[in-house]
Amino acid sequence: MSELYIGLMSGTSLDAIDAVLVDFADGIRLAGTFSMPLQSALRQRISVLCCSGTDEIEQMGRLDRELGEAFAEAALGVLASSERQPHEVKAIGSHGQTIRHRPQGAHAFTLQIGDPNTIAERCGINVVADFRRRDIAAGGQGAPLVPAFHAGIFSHASRHRIVLNLGGIANITLLPAGHPEAVSGFDTGPANLLMDAWSMTCRGRAYDADGEWAASGDINKPLLEKLLAHPFFSQPAPKSSGREDFNPAWLEQQLASLGARPSPEDIQATLLELTARSVADAILGLSLDHGDLLLCGGGAHNSALWHRLAELLPQWSLASTADHGLAPDWVEATAFAWLARQTVKQLPGNIPAVTGARGPRVLGCIYPA
Ligand SMILES: Nc1ncnc2c1ncn2[C@@H]1O[C@H](COP(=O)(O)OP(=O)(O)O)[C@@H](O)[C@H]1O
Ligand SMILES: [Mg+2]
Repeated sequence: MSELYIGLMSGTSLDAIDAVLVDFADGIRLAGTFSMPLQSALRQRISVLCCSGTDEIEQMGRLDRELGEAFAEAALGVLASSERQPHEVKAIGSHGQTIRHRPQGAHAFTLQIGDPNTIAERCGINVVADFRRRDIAAGGQGAPLVPAFHAGIFSHASRHRIVLNLGGIANITLLPAGHPEAVSGFDTGPANLLMDAWSMTCRGRAYDADGEWAASGDINKPLLEKLLAHPFFSQPAPKSSGREDFNPAWLEQQLASLGARPSPEDIQATLLELTARSVADAILGLSLDHGDLLLCGGGAHNSALWHRLAELLPQWSLASTADHGLAPDWVEATAFAWLARQTVKQLPGNIPAVTGARGPRVLGCIYPA
């Protein structure tokens, strides 16, 4: 007997909707994968909604429905590619698309859109969505939510491990050897989102494949120092980040405050160094000082970034999560299939030590088929 769930994920990179079909009958097995690139016009409309602007409610309402359709298409895509029927699936866990994440201050909030009603209607499958807001209501950051899942599959009895997810934003999960229950983690800052934006501005390319363009430039130290002075980096955990903290307008301000503007490739080299340094500094500040560093997310394919992380973290042995049973591109979507299953079983999905919530909570809301 199989126990099938679908996970749907679209992160801050706005690159694609990732869909996985996961079988939990005997551990965790990927039974199908499907990725649906976001068209540039849609990507543009999402990024507009990520900052304050005019007519936001109307735009959000429309985009919520449109993304609901897109998420449904991705769920049906993974079913078709794995030759399964909707009635075989227990539930879809849909992260949604974050358009605002403000975890600090009074009335902290986070907002993910992609109407779950539309997904349930189109697919005829139960949908679990809105995972983050219960954690925020309980005083947490609402993020990161993947560490509980990481602890379940990547912990090791005698080796310390850190899982590093390099999406638009980077987050780490700490897994002390032999103590999967002592899991912790937080966002370290930008992974790809600034590099992607700069690559698009200067070269019209959605990302710098393998970090080749960055590798052709030189790090600009004055710029790097300005970027590393962002207050997020010195903020203590629990903490989480997004496009609100790191975006092209912020980068432009830092560039404008420099005496001379570096060349485009030097800026890209400096942005890659910012990602590597902020991740490495976060890891070097931990009580764990050696072990395995497991990379996932699209940034795991950036060999220039990988190389720089290896140099900055000589005590850590770098590996792809693929070497530990789950390919880097599917880890997050699989986590949302797992989180949906937690909700269906009325089990908590958050880890209070990670998010800062007052306690463990059953996350999300179920939209019946
Ligand atoms: N071959 C590659 N070289 C460099 N970067 C890559 C490569 N493949 C993917 N990426 C990066 O990974 C990003 C997508 O990663 P992903 O884990 O999907 O992030 P998110 O969860 O934010 O959507 C892309 O936007 C790109 O920056
Ligand atoms: Mg993505």
